[in-house]
Amino acid sequence: MRQLLDFTVVENRELAQDTYLLSLAGDTSALAAPGQFVNLEIPGYYLRRPLSVFDWAPGRLDLIYKVLGEGTRDLVQVRVGTTMSVLSGLGNGFHAAPAQHPLIVGGGVGVVPLWALARTLIEEGQNPTVIYGFNSAAEVILVEETEALGARVLVTTADGSVGTAGFVTAALDQVPTADYLYACGPTPMLRALTAATALPGQFSLEERMACGFGACVGCVVSTRSGMSRVCKEGPVFTREELQW
Ligand code: FES
Repeated sequence: MRQLLDFTVVENRELAQDTYLLSLAGDTSALAAPGQFVNLEIPGYYLRRPLSVFDWAPGRLDLIYKVLGEGTRDLVQVRVGTTMSVLSGLGNGFHAAPAQHPLIVGGGVGVVPLWALARTLIEEGQNPTVIYGFNSAAEVILVEETEALGARVLVTTADGSVGTAGFVTAALDQVPTADYLYACGPTPMLRALTAATALPGQFSLEERMACGFGACVGCVVSTRSGMSRVCKEGPVFTREELQW
């Protein structure tokens, strides 16, 4: 259930190249599943920006964002103590499927919701292997945090500066066993994954968004049940729904 709420900035700091952690204090009761997102109003901008939820707890919301344009560049300048308007609890999020050895794959800022997903699966007694792909070592985030959960993490970089050289699919042969797939990242990465593995799974799509709650129909994709809004019916779809 979405909620429009005011939050207060507690922290806004750089984690890696052009990638920032924005911690906010406020009511997080609208959030229920990893993979949900919020739509944040950046002071001075009419259109809100959809941001991935990294973690949340009662009273605390941690977002991670990448500087991609003017709005997010100005977001870097937002100071501790600033009040920000947040449309919270958006999207469906991942659901934990019954599995023994899930494979979790993220690319770029697509890794952000996967840390909380890995934590959920581990709490349920599953044994996930994680592949995180980045362009270069300077962009690497959340590897230590994910390892600290007890997951095995394989890193790939397109330029080979850390981990296995190449895209996330380059590390698939290092995964000993997997019976389910969760993935979040750019569409070409998700499509490459579906071409490389027949595993059933869930995919969180990245799509340009405006309203973030299903009103503008600006984010539709074709699914088995017809045209679906990434922000409302998604962003997480099963592989079967996407028919990839
Ligand atoms: Fe408006 Fe999805 S962003 S319907």
